[in-house]
Amino acid sequence: MPQTKRQMHLAVFWLGTGNHIAGWRMPGAFDSNCSWPIAEAGVKIAERGKFDLFFLADSLVSAPNDHPSMQSRLEPTTTIAALSLVARKIGFGCTVSTSFSDPFSTARVFQSLAHLTGSRIAWNVVTTNAPEAYLNFSRDANTEHDERYRVAEEFVDVVRGLWSGWDPGAVVRDRASGLFADRARVRPLEHTGRYFKIKGPLNIERPPHGDPLLIQAGGSEQGQDLSARTADIVFSVVNGDKDEAKAAYDSLKARMARFGRERDELKLLPGVMPIIGRTEAEAKAQLDRLQSWVSPTTALRMVSLRLGYDITKHDLDGPVPELPPNANSQSFARALFAKARRENLTLRDLYNIAAAARGHWVIWGTPTRIADTLQDWFEAGLADGFMIQPAYFPGAFDDFVDLVVPELQRRGLFRRDYAGATLRNHLRQDEG
Ligand SMILES: Cc1cc2nc3c(=O)[nH]c(=O)nc-3n(C[C@H](O)[C@H](O)[C@H](O)COP(=O)(O)O)c2cc1C
Repeated sequence: MPQTKRQMHLAVFWLGTGNHIAGWRMPGAFDSNCSWPIAEAGVKIAERGKFDLFFLADSLVSAPNDHPSMQSRLEPTTTIAALSLVARKIGFGCTVSTSFSDPFSTARVFQSLAHLTGSRIAWNVVTTNAPEAYLNFSRDANTEHDERYRVAEEFVDVVRGLWSGWDPGAVVRDRASGLFADRARVRPLEHTGRYFKIKGPLNIERPPHGDPLLIQAGGSEQGQDLSARTADIVFSVVNGDKDEAKAAYDSLKARMARFGRERDELKLLPGVMPIIGRTEAEAKAQLDRLQSWVSPTTALRMVSLRLGYDITKHDLDGPVPELPPNANSQSFARALFAKARRENLTLRDLYNIAAAARGHWVIWGTPTRIADTLQDWFEAGLADGFMIQPAYFPGAFDDFVDLVVPELQRRGLFRRDYAGATLRNHLRQDEG
């Protein structure tokens, strides 16, 4: 009998060197974000685990002391095109910035990926938080936070307008008459907005299984509005506090009504790094080992980036300073400052947290305990699933797929196999 129980959705945040800043130093761990065999192995584990999607973030700079996977990485859209040929069922999420790209080209890339992958693709719309990115794009300064979001709103509308310019079936391919495309069913965009002027139409017909989906991650007011209006998936930052997570979940879902959307049309997936051991002690020892490799230089860069302030001048063992919302990314800063206040943390505590999971939530324990936590959050209405951020690959991801996923399946919370062929199908699947 088909189950009707609400199903959890799982994505994996792929960084070839692991999500932990020092994950690559674990014996046997993958140590490159530029290697085809490594990326191929990663996506195959995710598909074995029946994950909804394999997610590639992006950065547009290479800074000293940054996370190793940010210093040297493959360009995500080309990587996804290759990966989709070796993993034929899983969906993909792929980051392209609205601040440093062009809408017509972006519409082409993603509509091509929708054709090539059989509509297993989502565009992760980011406004880019790296403060130095503008230096690589012939600009004199960074566009400020709220303006970046105004650009993003128009950018997304243009891209979606270009995708939908072709009616399904507009390409008739009538050999008898010689009519290839019925141009009455292809509409130019004729867009003149505040930032973009684009005639259209796109030079790509509609993919038979649907347009690309949208992912959004920014958590500021502007970010939430963009998500509530347009996103199919939202990747969020939580710090482990259930009340804060509940408030964020409810606020985003309530906001959707303003844009005439149903709550279920958007899946909210908080990021989480699960550290798994056969015993609680073993899991804690693994986390301690990873943390022992954190160097102050790399951790300081990470926490400064996340807070949006250069904290190198502050006393590391003093209290976390009270600082107003920063200009780059409000999501991480809000989550980290709130945790620091609640738990009375020092800056050193905070940089340890930021180094572990790049500012995301870390949980540790046995597979049962990890499954309990995920189930608890899912059933309490704090999440529709999770963006899993393994500390290192392949070992920590294998552990999740081989030990936690079966536990979630036994509990009827997660699919045992893919029911459909597209990413849209995976997200709408509410049967076991
Ligand atoms: C969970 C999360 C993931 C993000 N991933 C990326 C990324 O891969 N590349 C990027 O340039 N920006 C990324 N961003 C930055 C956001 O797109 C956005 O520019 C930034 O968070 C500022 O918006 P906010 O103030 O609304 O958070 C991410 C942000 C969050 C919160």
